[in-house]
Amino acid sequence: MAATTAAVISDGVALRAMTAADLPAAHALSTEMRWPHRPVDWELALRHAEGLVAERDGQVVGTGLRWRWGPQQATIGLIIVSPACQGRRIGHRLMTALLEGLDDCSVLLQATSDGRGLYERLGFVRTGEIRQHQGIALPAPLIALSPGRRLRPTTEADLPALRALDAAARGMPRVALIDELFRDADATVMLDDDGHARGFAMLRRFGRGHAIGPVVAPEAEGAQALIAHLAGLNAGRFTRIDIDFDSGLTEWVESLGLLRVDAATTMVRGAPLAPNADARLYAIVTQALG
Ligand SMILES: CC(C)(COP(=O)(O)OP(=O)(O)OC[C@H]1O[C@@H](n2cnc3c(N)ncnc32)[C@H](O)[C@@H]1OP(=O)(O)O)[C@@H](O)C(=O)NCCC(=O)NCCS
Repeated sequence: MAATTAAVISDGVALRAMTAADLPAAHALSTEMRWPHRPVDWELALRHAEGLVAERDGQVVGTGLRWRWGPQQATIGLIIVSPACQGRRIGHRLMTALLEGLDDCSVLLQATSDGRGLYERLGFVRTGEIRQHQGIALPAPLIALSPGRRLRPTTEADLPALRALDAAARGMPRVALIDELFRDADATVMLDDDGHARGFAMLRRFGRGHAIGPVVAPEAEGAQALIAHLAGLNAGRFTRIDIDFDSGLTEWVESLGLLRVDAATTMVRGAPLAPNADARLYAIVTQALG
């Protein structure tokens, strides 16, 4: 990636590696976009990423992060160009640099309508849609589970199962991310089936309040039980969920007080990700991380 060597471009915009010292400027950019990220949300994202900034006259005017989770899988996110500098191919340069060395990888991202054309021209294809729902969570009715199924709290001993379920559902291993999310989550609930871990969901601080995600389950019934449980725990508080539109659960999620506010297009470049049929990702971690 061109992150290591500052490449000065003709219009005075240079790309260089992002460091922790750039986070206040990066946070200011996402705030300008009206994205809800807190400084700690940026810190978490950068801890696991290789980041780039576009800089002009010592000012950060663009950002982009990539996460290499597996030998052949990566995600890209937090692509932002300051409104004053948009339309000058800075976004294109950031993306081209982030994609360097990833030609043999499956690269996943969630595209805003602003970014979609740029990503399509770089070879990304639409694979689905994420719906962003949020609001003050209502007390949720409990979802009846099939015999043998139950929800239970988790402990450190569950980490291997959480990592494996996430990897199966996302189609890439994200061990360090799941470990950190687990440590910081307000709650992580496991869905057991006759004592076997079949799904899980996390309630975490993010942005304006809390987020429910990731949510991994074998089918909709399990996902609903997990989401309803965590929404109930967070009732009366601002809660967000970024849910897979194809899950068929978006209308139901509205009954929990979490209304649709936005959508993003899931796109992949390279070989399609191959999630395991027994574990489906109903809600993502964040739009940046997938
Ligand atoms: C998406 C975003 C990063 C693009 O950055 P940018 O620097 O403006 O993009 P570029 O100037 O590189 O333009 C991207 C493409 O759009 C084209 N384009 C730019 N301005 C255009 C215009 N006014 N009309 C038509 N096409 C235009 C460019 O030709 C370029 O095409 P190419 O990739 O084939 O060369 C920027 O719009 C942004 O920050 N948006 C808000 C945050 C956001 O939504 N980020 C995406 C998250 S997934």
